[in-house]
Amino acid sequence: MDYQRTKAYLEKRGQQQLLEYYDELSDADKEILLNDIEITNFSAVNNISAAEKKRGKITPIGAVTAEEIKRRVGQFEAVGLDLLSKDKVAAVLLAGGQGSRLGFKGPKGMFDIGETRSLTIFEQQMNNIAEVNAKTGRHFHIFIMTSRQNHEQTVEFFKSKNYFGYPRDRVHFYIQDCAPTCDYNGKVFLDEKHRVSLAPNGNGGWYSSLVNSGLARILERNNVEWLNVYSVDNVLQRICDPVFIGATILKRCRCGAKVVKKVCAEEKVGVLCNEDGKPSIIEYYEMSEQLKNKKKKGELVYRYGVTLNYLFNIHDLNGTLSGKLPYHLANKAIPHMENGVRVTPAEPCGYKLETLVVDMVKMMGSCLAFEVDREREFAPVKNAEGCDSVVTARELLKKNGVIL
Ligand code: UTP
Repeated sequence: MDYQRTKAYLEKRGQQQLLEYYDELSDADKEILLNDIEITNFSAVNNISAAEKKRGKITPIGAVTAEEIKRRVGQFEAVGLDLLSKDKVAAVLLAGGQGSRLGFKGPKGMFDIGETRSLTIFEQQMNNIAEVNAKTGRHFHIFIMTSRQNHEQTVEFFKSKNYFGYPRDRVHFYIQDCAPTCDYNGKVFLDEKHRVSLAPNGNGGWYSSLVNSGLARILERNNVEWLNVYSVDNVLQRICDPVFIGATILKRCRCGAKVVKKVCAEEKVGVLCNEDGKPSIIEYYEMSEQLKNKKKKGELVYRYGVTLNYLFNIHDLNGTLSGKLPYHLANKAIPHMENGVRVTPAEPCGYKLETLVVDMVKMMGSCLAFEVDREREFAPVKNAEGCDSVVTARELLKKNGVIL
């Protein structure tokens, strides 16, 4: 789009502030800005006040419990291993986040959790994968979602580590799509005079970004049917777990979620529940005190916390592509241009727009809550210290026999 058309386009959307510094720019920077504007998805900021919808009726959900899993482990595992050995399952690592709470400069997966030796989160997760592949004698495809900010570093890191011994042609990287950031009135920020402020569009962007990257052709070519999506920040993450895969299939669910029993009512974790009769996830900050503390036979009624390890049937995922995933407003401190200067506020000043993987679960219609032992499978690294931190994750790794 040339300047005149861009101007008209922005005026129609009430976003003409993006051209505020246009006249000051060099020809090359003018081109960059016009291109940024062209690729910006302005529909995300339309009517931002409506972005947060009211929740429906919340009721508890049943789970395949740890006891049942123990009893039927052989049966579940056989189904999962069969699928894995036919290459019908692939993994997707969500590594596009900004990890602001950890405060580590660089991709979170490059954080070194070792004490006496070097052990990055990426390496630890790749080690966890080796166990499954040893059983099938095959290597499932791994898709690694990065962001514009951390893509090159992540790819270079894997290369420098020789993909941790994984076959090169089975590891694929792609960059997550972006959404604009904006002020509280929905006006999109400029990051620099010639750059629109764009941020990763939330962890719900993983599938559409995969399709947009062109990598979905690998899934089609291999007739992959299931995708196991997992977060970078759980060092005990068990990926493409055949027991989980088998249980989801035998229970005839379109999706599965690994859950852990909450340690207490106050634990800050999203909880799997039913919303208007359909599986959904309610965030801890959305739960009333009454809901959080509700008990039956001495147990919390809403007790299944999600671990960000999901299994999705690929055919159903295509239904989530049509832009139906809602945007959530994340109130953040966003660097931006103000009166001709780039400011870096210490306090929140606007919104990042994020789609969430939890909304995909809701769209699936059925979801198996698969209860795992948190001591063996859940060691999130969210913060530098305190709860869900490097310190707690190290302790859990050691309990699981990992030498740090
Ligand atoms: P979090 O919700 O913890 O976000 O991500 P974050 O950005 O990593 O960390 P904070 O909130 O700034 O401290 C959960 C998982 O989703 C991925 C993260 O990499 C992590 O694996 N994620 C998050 C993405 O891949 N893209 C995003 O846009 C957001």
